[in-house]
Amino acid sequence: MERDIRVKKIKDGTVIDHITAGQALNVLRILNLPSGSGATVTVAMNVPSRKAGVKDIVKVEGRELRSEEVDRIALLAPEATINIVRNYRVVEKKKVAIPQMVEGVLGCANPNCITHVEPVKPRFIVESKKPIRLRCHYCERVMCEAEIAKQF
Ligand code: CTP
Ligand code: ZN
Repeated sequence: MERDIRVKKIKDGTVIDHITAGQALNVLRILNLPSGSGATVTVAMNVPSRKAGVKDIVKVEGRELRSEEVDRIALLAPEATINIVRNYRVVEKKKVAIPQMVEGVLGCANPNCITHVEPVKPRFIVESKKPIRLRCHYCERVMCEAEIAKQF
C-alpha cells in the first residue's frame, strides 16, 4: 500500500503538474472546466513538491490539450509540465514555454490603448518571464502577473 498517494493515477488523459501554487483554478478556467466537456477532473492544491515547496496539480481524464491552451497555461504557471497519459503510463512529458511574443490571448490593461478602439489584435512583448511581465506593443503599458491572471 502506498500511503503517499494523494490523488489516484488516471488511465487516459492529461496531468498538468508543477503548477504554481494558487493557480489551479485559473488553469481550470483556461480549460473551460469542469463545465466544458463533462470530463472527470481532479484538482490538488498545495501539494508538497521536492522542486518548488508546494505546487498544484490538475488531472483531466479523456482529453488532451490544444496548443493554445498550453500557451495560456505557461503565462500563469511557467514551471508546469504537461503529461500525456495513455493506459496509465506517461507517454509524453513536456514543459510549457512562454513564447517571445503573446498575441490575441490577452487584452491590454490600459483602457485608453488603441487595441480597445481599433480592430487590431492585442500584442505583447515578453519583457520578463519570471516574474512574468508583458509590455503592450501598442501603448507600452506593462502588465504584471496579477493583471494577467485576472483575465483568465
Ligand atoms: N500520473 C497520473 N496518472 C498516471 C501516471 C502519472 O496521475 N497514470 C501523474 C503523476 O502522479 C505525476 C504526473 O502524472 O503527478 C507525472 O508522472 P511521472 O512522470 O510518473 O512523475 P514524475 O517522474 O515525478 O514527474 P516529474 O519528473 O515531471 O516531476
Ligand atoms: Zn496597450
